[in-house]
Amino acid sequence: MGLQVRFLAVAALATISQASPLLLSRDDSSSNITYAFTNPNGLNFTQMNPSLPNVTIFATGGTIAGSADDNTATTGYQAGALGIQTLIDAVPEMLDVANVAGVQIANVGSPDVSSSILLEMAHRLNKVVCDDPSMAGAVVTHGTDTLEETAFFLDATVTCGKPIVIVGAMRPATAISADGPYNLLQSVTVAGSKEAKNRGALVVMNDRIASAYYVSKTNANTMDTFRAVEMGYLGAIVSNMPYFFYPPVLPTGKTAVDVTNVTSIPRVDILYSYQDMTNDTLFDAVENGAKGVVIAGSGAGSVNSAFSSAIAELITEESIPIVRSTRTGNGEVPYSESGDISSGFLNPAKSRILLGLLLSKGKGFEDIREAFGKVAV
Ligand SMILES: *[C@@H]1O[C@H](CO)[C@@H](O)[C@H](O)[C@H]1NC(C)=O
Ligand SMILES: *[C@@H]1O[C@H](CO)[C@@H](O)[C@H](O)[C@H]1NC(C)=O
Ligand SMILES: *[C@@H]1O[C@H](CO)[C@@H](O)[C@H](O)[C@H]1NC(C)=O
Ligand SMILES: *[C@@H]1O[C@H](CO)[C@@H](O)[C@H](O)[C@H]1NC(C)=O
Ligand SMILES: *[C@@H]1O[C@H](CO)[C@@H](O)[C@H](O)[C@H]1NC(C)=O
Repeated sequence: MGLQVRFLAVAALATISQASPLLLSRDDSSSNITYAFTNPNGLNFTQMNPSLPNVTIFATGGTIAGSADDNTATTGYQAGALGIQTLIDAVPEMLDVANVAGVQIANVGSPDVSSSILLEMAHRLNKVVCDDPSMAGAVVTHGTDTLEETAFFLDATVTCGKPIVIVGAMRPATAISADGPYNLLQSVTVAGSKEAKNRGALVVMNDRIASAYYVSKTNANTMDTFRAVEMGYLGAIVSNMPYFFYPPVLPTGKTAVDVTNVTSIPRVDILYSYQDMTNDTLFDAVENGAKGVVIAGSGAGSVNSAFSSAIAELITEESIPIVRSTRTGNGEVPYSESGDISSGFLNPAKSRILLGLLLSKGKGFEDIREAFGKVAV
């Protein structure tokens, strides 16, 4: 059994890349799973120190509970149970800052995180964290590729004011200066911090605290990839102490969505604008079931003339909400008097999440236009 557990511990938290682990265990001697405490929601804590905040770590997949190859070795273990012990083995310092419990919410790589997984996550977070006064906050471990979409979704749908911190890592555990362990420790610290309350969901990576609303992956490879280029960071973490630059505040024009009774998110497609783009890509998307479309326009939402009249036709004749965003990665698509929906400062990925959430609540064209209008000048 010792060998099996050791093997699993080595393969922990590969949330960014399915191939390489993000955390390596430093200490197998603590690998026996013992729970000090199980709360009324079934969350298992390995320690219950009354002077520390309680934090739940939601794992979305990868090898937090053992990689696919390890499946045989997990026989007899609860996946969530083994997962949290694996994380504690890798970063035992977590137990100095919080009592942690683990929930395995999914077991997929970040590009496969679907809207049904996001809904499940929002429902569970609202129940076991928001509705439970003994819980300080939560951490969501996630691959970095689609992390900004999950972060934006949770920011809109888990709005009780407790810190929900989304974290990933850019370097695999086997790399020199791997960033996973410290990112995890910092995210647990922020999730347990009173100063982190009432700021919406947060992304904590690379010693920085960012608002989930605007933060985006801006570089495919580097550790300083998560940025909100114009809006900046909310704070920094120095010697594992969170420091916020400003008092709690929420983004201008943020729309909160109560998903208590929502069971599915309608399909929204993103179309990327380019020279020679043909308008049948738009008609095909709608014909194949898209209930809304986001255009990653060139510049401030621009598309060629034929495509522009195709947008106008679908809006006029079918009231399909088509949101014009920008492919530039920065800046805004200004509010339009003409009746188009502009994304304002939201990039295409975030616009898609917001549009899907509004459609899931049965919002019509004008309500959607108004919600996006709040983010635009
Ligand atoms: C784990 O538990 C087993 C059975 O109780 C015990 O023999 C072993 O010494 C324990 N290992 C550690 C590292 O505590
Ligand atoms: C807590 O532990 C129990 C018993 O091992 C297990 O059935 C349950 O699924 C665990 N809870 C979570 C959230 O993993
Ligand atoms: C942590 O949870 C335990 C058990 O529910 C509770 O008694 C304790 O007060 C909580 N700690 C804090 C700081 O809220
Ligand atoms: C969810 O449904 C219940 C039962 O129909 C209802 O009482 C409640 O108001 C609904 N909540 C929301 C946010 O729609
Ligand atoms: C779509 O593009 C084609 C080819 O450029 C054009 O003939 C047609 O009028 C366009 N359709 C609409 C609705 O704009």
